Amino acid sequence: MKLAQGILFTEKQIAARVAELAEQIASDYAGKRLVLCAVLKGSIPFLADLMRRLPGDVRIALTEMKSQVDGLHAKILFTSSLELSGEHVLIVEDIVDTGITLDYLIKHMEAERAPASIKVACFLDKVSARKLDVPIHYRGFTVPDKFIVGYGLDFQERYRNLPYLTWVEPE
Ligand code: IMP
Ligand code: MG
Repeated sequence: MKLAQGILFTEKQIAARVAELAEQIASDYAGKRLVLCAVLKGSIPFLADLMRRLPGDVRIALTEMKSQVDGLHAKILFTSSLELSGEHVLIVEDIVDTGITLDYLIKHMEAERAPASIKVACFLDKVSARKLDVPIHYRGFTVPDKFIVGYGLDFQERYRNLPYLTWVEPE
């Protein structure tokens, strides 16, 4: 696979969209304390951009997940120590594809961590690949069914550092 020539979203488009999402989130959570739970590693740039645009009482939790290759299961590899019980949690994801990873995380969090509420902010939504119906409260962009890279998203751990969004395609 090689990097495509085209650009899906530029740095400027990304920044503008993050600002819009942050405004909506800030208004929805006004007066409440919020925990942003970022799913590593893809959501790092989105988390960093979003959190700096949220005023008020915001804390950060991190979790790393593995989306299984059998196409059916996901698992949690790592969870940071912040207590989520009774907190308003906003899951911060890079992209929702089949929905399997997010579905697992939400169910696990509801069962094991007892937060006051769980909502989802995902930067990209590959809606045509969805297998499980998952709630998305804040969505950056809907994307085509390509393998997207950049702005945190990787292909075999590469290209996360690109400041824009593009895709990889067969050589
Ligand atoms: P899902 O469980 O199929 O929804 O996949 C979720 C995870 O797979 C995402 O959080 C990403 O880490 C990864 N993923 C899915 N599609 C892409 C893509 O197009 N580019 C990079 N990573 C992707
Ligand atoms: Mg991810």
